Amino acid sequence: MRSYKAKMVEPITLPPRERREEVLSEAGYNVFNIAAEDVYIDLLTDSGTGTMSDAQWAALFRGDESYAGSRSFGRLREAVEDVMGFPRVIPTHQGRGAENVLYGCLVEEGDVVPNNAHFDTTRAHIANQGGDPVDCPAEGAGDPTDGSPFKGNFSVERARAVADEVGAERIPAVVLTITNNSTAGQPVSVENVRKTAAFAEEVDATFVIDACRFAENAYFVKRREDGYADRSVAEIAREQLSYADALVMSGKKEALVNIGGFVALRDEALFEWAKQRAILYEGFPTYGGMSGRDIEAMAVGLREAVEPPYVEDRVEQVAELGRLLEERDVPIYRPVGGHAAYLDAGRLFSHIPGGEFPGQSLVCELYREGGVRGVELGSFAFPGADRLELVRLAIPRRTYGREHLEHVAETAAAVRDRAEEVSGLEIVSEPSTAELRHFSAELAPV
Ligand code: F0G
Repeated sequence: MRSYKAKMVEPITLPPRERREEVLSEAGYNVFNIAAEDVYIDLLTDSGTGTMSDAQWAALFRGDESYAGSRSFGRLREAVEDVMGFPRVIPTHQGRGAENVLYGCLVEEGDVVPNNAHFDTTRAHIANQGGDPVDCPAEGAGDPTDGSPFKGNFSVERARAVADEVGAERIPAVVLTITNNSTAGQPVSVENVRKTAAFAEEVDATFVIDACRFAENAYFVKRREDGYADRSVAEIAREQLSYADALVMSGKKEALVNIGGFVALRDEALFEWAKQRAILYEGFPTYGGMSGRDIEAMAVGLREAVEPPYVEDRVEQVAELGRLLEERDVPIYRPVGGHAAYLDAGRLFSHIPGGEFPGQSLVCELYREGGVRGVELGSFAFPGADRLELVRLAIPRRTYGREHLEHVAETAAAVRDRAEEVSGLEIVSEPSTAELRHFSAELAPV
């Protein structure tokens, strides 16, 4: 049941079909090139696209814009300590700013960094420091029909094999991304957090949690992990983070704001070092690239994220989209994860070969059919990687309602009905950096 109501609205319209055809072709069949006003339901990302609460809007007015030692920073520090249990905080402009600050301290040329699965900016920041980011996903993560409850888990066995091969001394950090965005938003169990922490200790590495979606993860633990049903999401959130040495956080996800992030640390020496990097790349360490008012909204949002009505509603809404799709026989990745439903374009368009981007074809058809914008996370976004052909439909927080989700499911069902007629795509122009090609490449129907 929805635990909020709207008190500010933004008009949206579904452009007529001829206009959508025109938009697709003008955009080079790449939805990153489509103007937002031409989109009806925008499920491109859950990052910075959510709706703030009235308490967050009110907090904006309290913003203390002092360069050093603002009251707003004090309130963020208290919120991070209360909600996440970390005493030392450095604000950053967003998640990747936090990654730059922290991984610049930890990672050197020739290092290897295991993660349950690296998000693309994490991978890029580790590589930028000369490190080698290695994914260690759990067994079954690559199978869209495996119903295991914690498919986001870190495989300690795989990581240990990496350590044996390269030498533990080359592993400065072990990272756990909760929930696991690159594995269909799947959650990580607290048991797995403990095991990962023990592995990090074994190889004498800093244990980092990418906490972007920490509250959703805690909610899954409450629902699925033995022994946690009677614990509150807030308690579980603190427990799962208590095993980490450091956090990187994108406030654009579960601090419920449109911009912002932070690094949180326990170790005093690492904190002092990270502050120096923050001054260089972000700003003085009590504002770090954020305005005081945005810091205020982030402090309030972080507390709201672990409140039962918010987080239950959030995860259940994503599950609801999954159900609406399955009721219409649209193939999806199962079980449905935290922030998005993922369509299995490989199964839907089994007649389109991988080289002709079935996922990107589905993204275009969803737009053509119903003005819905999702994002491809298959062979177009990850060239050369052996991946499922998935399309992510990420739900912005507290923004859309049931009718919107029904429209999305109806749209996907209409595409399914004419799946055989859909052809693949080929790239007609692309930028020089292959890892970033999906943001700007242009395509055409084969
Ligand atoms: N880590 C994870 C797991 C993320 O999902 C993201 C962003 C970041 C780090 C970087 O944070 O965008 O604030 O700099 N994910 C967004 C997405 C962009 O669409 O999944 P940021």
